[in-house]
Amino acid sequence: MKYRRIRYVWLPVGVALLAGIGYVNWSKSGAGLYSRLWQPEALFAYWNPADFYDPVQSLTGSFAGRECVTCHEGVTPGIVNDWRKSRHSQAREPVYCTACHGNDHRNLHLPTPQICGGCHATQYGQFVDEKRYGFPSHGLAMERALDARHFVDKPKAEVSACLQCHSVASKCDSCHTRHLFNAAEARRPEACITCHSGPPHPDDESYFASRHGQIYLEEGKDWDWSKPLHKGNYKVPTCAYCHMEDGKHQVVDKSIWKFGIRQINPLTSSNEVKRNRWVKLCSDCHEADWSRRQLAKLDTERKQAWQKLYAAESVLCRLRADDQLFPPASQRPAYPTDWLDEIWPRERIGFFEGQASAFYNVSPIERDYFEMWYFDNLSTYKAAAHGDAALQRRAHAAMDRDLQSIKREARILRTLGEAERELGIDARAGSYWRIGDYTDHNREHN
Ligand code: HEC
Ligand code: HEC
Ligand code: HEC
Ligand code: HEC
Ligand code: HEC
Ligand code: HEC
Ligand code: HEC
Ligand code: HEC
Repeated sequence: MKYRRIRYVWLPVGVALLAGIGYVNWSKSGAGLYSRLWQPEALFAYWNPADFYDPVQSLTGSFAGRECVTCHEGVTPGIVNDWRKSRHSQAREPVYCTACHGNDHRNLHLPTPQICGGCHATQYGQFVDEKRYGFPSHGLAMERALDARHFVDKPKAEVSACLQCHSVASKCDSCHTRHLFNAAEARRPEACITCHSGPPHPDDESYFASRHGQIYLEEGKDWDWSKPLHKGNYKVPTCAYCHMEDGKHQVVDKSIWKFGIRQINPLTSSNEVKRNRWVKLCSDCHEADWSRRQLAKLDTERKQAWQKLYAAESVLCRLRADDQLFPPASQRPAYPTDWLDEIWPRERIGFFEGQASAFYNVSPIERDYFEMWYFDNLSTYKAAAHGDAALQRRAHAAMDRDLQSIKREARILRTLGEAERELGIDARAGSYWRIGDYTDHNREHN
């Protein structure tokens, strides 16, 4: 009897699970988790051709490779020039326009990684295999971006840049640009920094300020960049030397701290394996023990940064517990896709509660914590990882100031809250809080 009843408990759970899977499949049937709620911009066709490209219809006919070249010499001479200089045109069997774009002009395609993979199976295989490590990674970059809620609640003008950078997943011309497709170009740090710069990922700034970056700037122009990224070929490492060693098209199998947005334990056995890979890489040029100590310094820095972040987080948690955050979640607009917040408004504090989406529509003190966590913290991380001592010091000083000012704001909120309670004032946020920059009320119709 008892046994049977327990079995029935699973019935609703099973139904809910199936419904959940069904819902995710339904909402993902376009591109991204919320794709039913927004329309792509025309430009997305180029950033993510597999999902969005429709070929131009202005020209009819099927052409052989040479014919494409002849006509395009007039239409797009720069493209043809680059192609002529490329290994593709000089190969024993030239790789014509048709190999990447097709023959039929009304049915052209823009090449996805899969098409390059037809001839470059090794690089494509490594690139796809990267997905195994989860995000962040180049292989998953487009999915990660398109799954973000920003495509629903932000105006298009503010999200097209997301796809420009995250297109690293959906086409192979991010580092060796079209139509030269030159490996030497990709070996240099400039190939990465169109995307890897600025907060929250100042790789550009921290690398060029480091000893390695400075030597590159001083001497790099005279080096022979046709050599592969391999021990003995370069005096100092570039981004790709460290993150794609030996030309491996995979940037994550050594990542321990990853993006840096949450604390991890660097001493787990799988992280030890990754650290050993780093030490092996540094040992191309440095002594192994020296390198291990340099890398351990990063863990010390991270521990210090997280102490500051947790201190700030606990100030916010205590304010929330005492109902002193102003305005509280119940008096400000929920994110357009957040049905849970509509029924159960709640301030999200810290990584695991979803602070990742706290870019806007939050109280000032929450925003300050977000900036401390997402900008100053991530700056100290990249500074320590890449050896930019000045930025490391500057960004830690900024975190100290953030913590002080969060404490000061908390004190003011408490003092005001107590005074209002004593005087019997029910202070509510003004209605203008409901009409924020990105709320349902005034956002563009996406
Ligand atoms: C008779 C001239 C001519 C020939 C031959 C020709 N093209 Fe084009 N191609 C054009 C013109 C003109 C455009 C611009 C069309 C437009 O923007 O409406 C174009 C556009 C393109 C584009 C850009 C499409 C886009 O959506 O931005 C690609 C890619 C392309 N051609 C590839 C090819 C390939 C591959 C061949 C050979 C199979 C070829 N072309 C043959 C004239 C030609
Ligand atoms: C090795 C593959 C490859 C070959 C060969 C190739 N292309 Fe492309 N082409 C690309 C890639 C990759 C893109 C970028 C697609 C995107 O933005 O999604 C592109 C984009 C284009 C575009 C549109 C973007 C722009 O910059 O205007 C045109 C036009 C074009 N190619 C024409 C040609 C012509 C003409 C040839 C032959 C001379 C050619 N391509 C040969 C890979 C190739
Ligand atoms: C039809 C086959 C074919 C396709 C499709 C193809 N390639 Fe190639 N690729 C080649 C050949 C052949 C070479 C020259 C190899 C050699 O000379 O040893 C080459 C060379 C290269 C190189 C090396 C250049 C250098 O400086 O050493 C790069 C990078 C490259 N391709 C990228 C791409 C990308 C990116 C795509 C897709 C947009 C692509 N290829 C599509 C056949 C192809
Ligand atoms: C077109 C833009 C673009 C270019 C160019 C680019 N990347 Fe990236 N890279 C990204 C994006 C976007 C992500 C994060 C993807 C995600 O959401 O998971 C990323 C992620 C990474 C990561 C993994 C981060 C982690 O936290 O584990 C590394 C390492 C990396 N890139 C290194 C490089 C290097 C080295 C180069 C140059 C050789 C380069 N990237 C060029 C856009 C780019
Ligand atoms: C300037 C290029 C650039 C732009 C613009 C950009 N990103 Fe990224 N994004 C990156 C890079 C690079 C990383 C990886 C950084 C690292 O690991 O250090 C990343 C990481 C991410 C991640 C991974 C973090 C995680 O939790 O997995 C997500 C999600 C993301 N971006 C979404 C977006 C969205 C949404 C937008 C637009 C609002 C956007 N990005 C705009 C370059 C960019
Ligand atoms: C994050 C930057 C980046 C991206 C994205 C990227 N590559 Fe590369 N690629 C490089 C670098 C760096 C090299 C030079 C490697 C070396 O020195 O051994 C290279 C070299 C190559 C070569 C020449 C290999 C050789 O030994 O001559 C080919 C072919 C190639 N890439 C194809 C691809 C294909 C296909 C894709 C898409 C799946 C792709 N690449 C995407 C950075 C990139
Ligand atoms: C001397 C080697 C070296 C060079 C050169 C270098 N990095 Fe890094 N990078 C590191 C190390 C070490 C980390 C921290 C890795 C860890 O423990 O997670 C890191 C972290 C990163 C991360 C965060 C993801 C991760 O793997 O943890 C990105 C993204 C990144 N670097 C991009 C770049 C870019 C872009 C450049 C060039 C402008 C560059 N790096 C130059 C060694 C290097
Ligand atoms: C391709 C060779 C090469 C690789 C690989 C390399 N470095 Fe370096 N590194 C150098 C050179 C050369 C210098 C300059 C030495 C000097 O300052 O006199 C240097 C300088 C440094 C410095 C500054 C040293 C000082 O005394 O101020 C640090 C820190 C450093 N490297 C850390 C690393 C770490 C950590 C790795 C691995 C993630 C690494 N390097 C990988 C070549 C390399």
